[in-house]
Amino acid sequence: MQNAFDLQNKLAIVTGANTGIGQGIALSLAQAGASIVAVGRSSMDETRELISPTKVPFRAVAADLSNLAPIEEILDAAEGLSGRVDILVNNAGIIRRADAIDFTESDWDDVMNLNLKTTFFLSQAAARRMLKDGKGGKIINIASLLSFQGGIRVPSYTASKSGVAGLTKLLANEWAAKGINVNAIAPGYIVTNNTEALREDAKRSAEILSRIPAGRWGHAEDIGGAAVFLASSAANYIHGTVLPVDGGWLAR
Ligand SMILES: NC(=O)c1ccc[n+]([C@@H]2O[C@H](COP(=O)([O-])OP(=O)(O)OC[C@H]3O[C@@H](n4cnc5c(N)ncnc54)[C@H](OP(=O)(O)O)[C@@H]3O)[C@@H](O)[C@H]2O)c1
Repeated sequence: MQNAFDLQNKLAIVTGANTGIGQGIALSLAQAGASIVAVGRSSMDETRELISPTKVPFRAVAADLSNLAPIEEILDAAEGLSGRVDILVNNAGIIRRADAIDFTESDWDDVMNLNLKTTFFLSQAAARRMLKDGKGGKIINIASLLSFQGGIRVPSYTASKSGVAGLTKLLANEWAAKGINVNAIAPGYIVTNNTEALREDAKRSAEILSRIPAGRWGHAEDIGGAAVFLASSAANYIHGTVLPVDGGWLAR
């Protein structure tokens, strides 16, 4: 019987795959059989090493996604590895923390450019190629609990991730009938560089932990299974959803 979660003969582009959630997703997709194009501004050596036992084709593409310049080069590199782009995971993202009253324009623009603008234009460019041969594909955006909630001291992050949720639905509406599934994963509180400042604040860290029904912070590998699902044919009829993977946080 065919395994609906099998990603053999598929190629996935994962942005920000050198560490954290992106690295966890790249590893999970590789374990399900997908070839991986790992995109980011830091060395991908650790990710390459983690993935190597799976024996899937792997290529690292150095790119600063704070601007749109590298987009076509990323897609060309992916097509060079396998012939077509099947899966795009828009994971790269940053956060800036400051009281709203003091928040700067650069902390607004830097976050919006990477988290929202690049997510849109990389999706657009990938979709153009997915549509060219009529085979479609899967686009998975990484949203956040702050796609649903307000958060505190992170105005541009909340705006960007709320935007990611809206964009996910808009793109799904436009592309579902053309064979592209656009969905998002909203990770809860995950142990990565992104949450280092929160975890170092003993009071905030304890407050957060006490309201997670699962009773623990999440880890990058907790997100990988959801990514494999949304990237696979098991999710062919799922469009425009934002799937929380949050240890139950939003159920509280
Ligand atoms: N951790 C959480 O609790 C949590 C919760 C909800 C959503 N998220 C989202 O999950 C995604 C991954 O975050 P993470 O938690 O894994 O944090 P992370 O460890 O800080 O990873 C962020 C990734 O984005 C990359 N990146 C940042 N700026 C970039 C740029 N200009 N060009 C290319 N790549 C860039 C980083 O590369 P460098 O290592 O080179 O900086 C890194 O690979 C983000 O979209 C984040 O908002 C995280």
